[in-house]
Amino acid sequence: MFRPCSTLLATCVALWSMPSAAFTNRAIRAALTSRRFAPTMATKATEAAQQAAIAKIVPCDAASLKECGARLRDGELVAFPTETVYGLGCNAMDADAITKVFEAKERPLTDPLIVHVNGRSSAFELWDTTSQARSALDAICDQFWPGPLTIVAKAKSDVPPILMANTGFVACRSPSGDIARRLIDAARVPLAAPSANKFGHVSPTKASHVWDDLQNEDVWIVDSDAATSPESSDVVCNVGVESTVAKVDCSSECAGRVVLLRQGAVSLQDISECLQKAGLGNQFHVETKTQKTISDHIATVAPGQSIRHYSPDVPSFIVAKDRCDDASELSQAERSFLSTSVIIDFGGILKRWEPACVAYRDLSAGGDSAQAAKALFDTLRWTERVEGAQRVLFPEIVEDPTANDALVLTLKDKLTRAASGTRIDSLR
Ligand code: TXA
Ligand code: MG
Repeated sequence: MFRPCSTLLATCVALWSMPSAAFTNRAIRAALTSRRFAPTMATKATEAAQQAAIAKIVPCDAASLKECGARLRDGELVAFPTETVYGLGCNAMDADAITKVFEAKERPLTDPLIVHVNGRSSAFELWDTTSQARSALDAICDQFWPGPLTIVAKAKSDVPPILMANTGFVACRSPSGDIARRLIDAARVPLAAPSANKFGHVSPTKASHVWDDLQNEDVWIVDSDAATSPESSDVVCNVGVESTVAKVDCSSECAGRVVLLRQGAVSLQDISECLQKAGLGNQFHVETKTQKTISDHIATVAPGQSIRHYSPDVPSFIVAKDRCDDASELSQAERSFLSTSVIIDFGGILKRWEPACVAYRDLSAGGDSAQAAKALFDTLRWTERVEGAQRVLFPEIVEDPTANDALVLTLKDKLTRAASGTRIDSLR
């Protein structure tokens, strides 16, 4: 059982970086009573506490969203679906409300939050731009908003430092999801919202996922349909993976830079082509700083991009391409290994091992990256419920470098992080 230990270690490192003693005590308490540590640390008292859920599932009709809007203005938390994943929202201009989000997620204060707005003009109320930055931001917002692209730019002085982890740069995104847009309108304030999961766990794409992680927090969870049962909500997160994060930086004397910090449905090439089309190709250097996830070290490039991320509570591994391609007969030892393994496949690469493993799902039998991305987080969470599962195996995905398929890169990145960068080349 090394997962809980490594997660606990990561949590301790995260807690160590928190400045306030009260916050630290609260976060440690929350970590110790969290469902994620239940297998090793739960006591009768904490189990009883967990039964008394505090969170509330609310419908997404107009009256409910109006109430949610008022709750957000009052400094409380509301989790809501976007076209990517569920966000845990609060008033982005209210430092106390932001603190509650960090507490509820057990997230280190070093990891800044994205602000959700309904249009460019609201973002420019938070961004402090030069004319050069403005021209790039205009072009990028024009092309990609509303949609799954988050843009980081220099912040105005009244943006709460805690929102930005004291970086002086604020991230904004205009979601295309209908419920998210209606909620932002109802709140009449910009909404800071990280993914609505416990820190380090798999991002949620259903109300029931949010419930699983945050039922002991003072959070309202907007269901995607009018049902009140946490199990009955549909997937509304049609993209299924988090937004691309790109930073527009014009602080140097020479050319401006656009730096990709996280891969999502929008690619570096898409952004580069957008700037060229706007006649800004010569003024901006476009580059990626997403971490190479295949080596097992902790990222320092973008906060929140640590290699251990999106992890299910079951140890997970990538099966090296050579082993995936090796079609020879399985040995007895390999069969025994597979009999306690769950396989999450892509494009049928590991289909021939389906009869030997404890459970099998293919994210997309046809190898469609959009279909796979949409299914990914729900499937990672499903592995936690498979009886007899001792580990999860993913095939190593080799992308076509000429295809400009952002979602294949995203899929590969998420699976690598879920596996903490660990690749195996034999089944034992
Ligand atoms: O699709 C999404 O982006 C979802 C939905 C809810 O909008 N949100 C989301 O938030 O994924 P979160 O907090 O889980 O991830 C935000 C990422 C983190 O990697 C964070 O470090 C980065 O964006 N980020 C936020 N503000 C930043 C800033 N000022 N500078 C650099 N990176 C930033
Ligand atoms: Mg997240």
